[in-house]
Amino acid sequence: MSFLRRLAVAVSGSKHNRDTLVIRPIIVTLALAALSLALVTSQTLALAPPDGFRHAAQLWGLNIGAAADYTYLTEDERYRQTLAREFDLLIPENEMKFDSIHPLPGVYDFEAADALVAFAETHNMRVRGHVLVWGRQLPVWVFMRQWTRRQAEDILRSHIQTVVGRYRGRVYAWDVINEAVDDNGSLRDSIWLQTIGPDYIDLAFRWAHEADPDAVLIYNDLGGEHLNPKADAVYELAKGMVERGVPVHGVGLEMHTGLEWAPKPADLKAVINRLAELGLEVHITEMDVRTGHVDWPLSIKQAEQAAIYRSVLSVCRDAPACKSLSLWGVSDAQSWVYYTFGGSYPEESPLVFDPDYRPKPAYFAMMDALAQGLPPQEARHGIFSPLMLKEWRQE
Ligand code: XIL
Repeated sequence: MSFLRRLAVAVSGSKHNRDTLVIRPIIVTLALAALSLALVTSQTLALAPPDGFRHAAQLWGLNIGAAADYTYLTEDERYRQTLAREFDLLIPENEMKFDSIHPLPGVYDFEAADALVAFAETHNMRVRGHVLVWGRQLPVWVFMRQWTRRQAEDILRSHIQTVVGRYRGRVYAWDVINEAVDDNGSLRDSIWLQTIGPDYIDLAFRWAHEADPDAVLIYNDLGGEHLNPKADAVYELAKGMVERGVPVHGVGLEMHTGLEWAPKPADLKAVINRLAELGLEVHITEMDVRTGHVDWPLSIKQAEQAAIYRSVLSVCRDAPACKSLSLWGVSDAQSWVYYTFGGSYPEESPLVFDPDYRPKPAYFAMMDALAQGLPPQEARHGIFSPLMLKEWRQE
């Protein structure tokens, strides 16, 4: 979709009818005013850092997000600054997971999640809640007894309704179910599958919808970004839900990828398009690009990584159903990749800011992808034009 078409749709509101907060006419007007100002004052602005992803992405009707961590947020001023400057969507990395937010039967701990939501509100960011139902990061008490189906349903229903209810109207979207499908396409084993059965998926969406009828409800999974059996299974699962009238509104493609296994743009496009044909939104929910497994010069790794970020963002940008792209962390200082898969910086460096919060080639590639289909005068003179980014980078 061209920039002008996206803009027209944003102003008329038709594309984002579930999604009126993404771009409101007033934001578009302000953005255009900012761009006109940039035209006039491009000399001065050339040396200033750009406004970050969030400004550039807004012009496309996209949210650019990051997973945020409560401890870093409270302890690191540069982390806070980068998060607020660059991103307009915040996803609590662990703080809303079952073991964090519901550590004992009937006992909820909202402190960290509340702080992240408050930070997002202060900085005019949306929040995607992550995650209501998953087979992992569960508290010990969930495994301490043999639950009947009825008991397990009660636990899950009251968990979902308590958490979604607390943030009703403040968390705009929820990852309702996480990673329920195995690589071979069958349903992944979990305590919820064992106790409730395959119905747990439909039920969870229905309970979440009851608790907040306006929230965008997402099925989130990994590895289905390629055209493979996993992607087919996620598609079939989503299709079944749509046909049964289950309130599912989107599919999250996690996009934990790496230099040698990133999806081909055509495959990703096909995956997104067939989900869109079901009437679903698509969100790139947890992107990072691992570099530690190959023994290439760092500059080559960075360039290849940048190309992957650029290509995924470009596919998302051009697919009307693709509403957001989120990174799984803020800088290479914090990624889960190190403690999950091993490796250390700089050989492993999955995100787009280095540990000192300096933008890497991947950052510029993403900004460039956002500048790409803009009307020529804005691409040339806009506050995030590639030329100005280059100048800023050399400062
Ligand atoms: C990861 C977090 O980043 C880690 O801090 C935590 O130890 C484990 O979980 N898919 C998901 C995320 O949906 O919730 C996971 O996050 C990464 C894989």
